[in-house]
Amino acid sequence: MILRNHETTLQINGEILSFQARHTDTLLFVLREKLGLTGAKPGCLNGDCGACTIDVDGEPMKSCLMLAIEAANKKVTTVEGLKNAPIQKQFMERFAFQCGYCTPGFIMNCHSLIQKHPDATDIVIKEWLESNICRCTGYKEIEDAIKAALPYYKHV
Ligand code: FES
Ligand code: FES
Repeated sequence: MILRNHETTLQINGEILSFQARHTDTLLFVLREKLGLTGAKPGCLNGDCGACTIDVDGEPMKSCLMLAIEAANKKVTTVEGLKNAPIQKQFMERFAFQCGYCTPGFIMNCHSLIQKHPDATDIVIKEWLESNICRCTGYKEIEDAIKAALPYYKHV
């Protein structure tokens, strides 16, 4: 069976973008291969690692598990769309990464956490981070970055 491309339109980082995609294309594939937004990373491709995390209508989503057409009529934000959010600065200041491969996914997940839980406790932060895997830095630094960013979001 030949899978055809269809005109697809999504709202990504505040822009309306149209492109050709198959109905079976994942959002991660489209972001990276059709639109050149390579911040979301392919890792496990089965929902375990969180390297592909983006924001869809205010919810952290693993873009390897979502079809691009499912994002129609929703607001998609990738790490490229954050534009120096406080959590990004705190990741740098707290050295919350080493190789950096997992970092865009962590930042998107943390950004959602802080917006949904501006008074997040240690337990909430630890539970929230369970959806992402880092293989080379300590989670302590990531938790520190979240705690340091919390006050900035309370005043936005
Ligand atoms: S690549 Fe999507 S969760 Fe691992
Ligand atoms: S910083 Fe290398 S995998 Fe997380």
